[in-house]
Amino acid sequence: MNVLVTGGMGYIGSHTSIQMIHAGMTPVIFDNLYNSKKTVLERIEKVSGVKPAFIEGDIRNKELLVNVLKDNNIEAVIHFAGLKAVGESVAKPLEYYDNNVNGTLVLVDAMREAGVKTLVFSSSATVYGDPASVPITEDFPTSATNPYGRSKLMVEECLTDFQKANPDWSITLLRYFNPVGSHPSGELGEDPQGIPNNLMPFVSQVAVGRRDFLSVFGSDYPTKDGTGVRDYIHVMDLSDGHVAALQKVGSKHGLHVYNLGTGNGYSVLEMVKAFESASGREVPYQIVDRRPGDIAECWADPKKAMTELDWRAERTLEQMTEDTWRWQSNNPQGYPEA
Ligand code: NAD
Ligand code: UD1
Repeated sequence: MNVLVTGGMGYIGSHTSIQMIHAGMTPVIFDNLYNSKKTVLERIEKVSGVKPAFIEGDIRNKELLVNVLKDNNIEAVIHFAGLKAVGESVAKPLEYYDNNVNGTLVLVDAMREAGVKTLVFSSSATVYGDPASVPITEDFPTSATNPYGRSKLMVEECLTDFQKANPDWSITLLRYFNPVGSHPSGELGEDPQGIPNNLMPFVSQVAVGRRDFLSVFGSDYPTKDGTGVRDYIHVMDLSDGHVAALQKVGSKHGLHVYNLGTGNGYSVLEMVKAFESASGREVPYQIVDRRPGDIAECWADPKKAMTELDWRAERTLEQMTEDTWRWQSNNPQGYPEA
């Protein structure tokens, strides 16, 4: 199966491409390298034995996309490409709506023209806003509190309408909880540019000595230890979830929506502690004010994906932190330039 992977040079797309290769699929990567480096391709080859085809391009370029879809006999698309920094989206909403919403519409239009009718979309637990309770099931109400979240929600709604009007398409919305971890080889991992927004990359940069201490955003939440609780999922499990989605519902007409999470919640301090024992390094931290827009706790009910996709997150917290550390300590400055 030839699958176009938009954003395939990025964090989740690169790991998913590897798992696709292991599952006998042929990923064709399409990425504009806005938030990734070309050397990712060599790392994919090193760990999988296969160097995927790579096209440098922007998902807003319809003509190029149509040609790529036709020339490579693409049967399905996994769509990771987009911008993902919440804070930046507040400052640059147009860029977020253009890349994430307009970009997806151009992609779907190109797929329609090329006759490709299977799409898997990277959505986020952010579409649940501040959930009334946990665990979260797929039928919870959706809302958005920032332009990034709104762009994900808008795309979900556009795709839902489009699928209704085109019932012979298979469109799958995968709502990721908090992806962390790295390929167990230590060759691939998360490589944020500038100051990391997310917890795990920040913690690992403190452990490796790139930053002095972690700021813990609030210790007065109504949670087990007062710090925020999230459903951290190993990126390899998340990647396997994409393969399962293609295999189980990729050829089933309809709109399919799944949470990809573990069903477990860990606090910020639990993550710090786990990282310290995985790395053998101390992670100094200071408690500071809450981060505006943050919620107290959020974790998935992953039953629907377990039942319908025959998939479950299997990797432990130890694997998440050990694999992150292997990547970070082998590549303290992230991927080298090409
Ligand atoms: P990432 O930034 O590492 O990867 C995204 C890739 O898309 C990058 O390689 C970037 O160069 C490329 N890209 C961006 N705009 C593009 C465009 N217009 N045309 C072509 N390529 C473009 O991000 P990631 O963490 O791998 O996330 C992948 C997807 O999953 C995103 O859509 C993100 O919103 C979603 N998601 C991520 C998380 C997370 O915590 N990482 C959580 C929920 C959802
Ligand atoms: C963030 C995004 C969300 C996105 C999700 C997935 C925000 C407001 N939300 O959510 O849209 O879908 O990532 O990756 O950014 N923390 C610290 N110190 C830090 C960083 C984080 O204490 O330096 C805490 C946070 O308060 C939170 C937890 O760690 O309790 C996880 O934070 P983060 O990794 O940013 O993820 P989310 O807040 O879940």
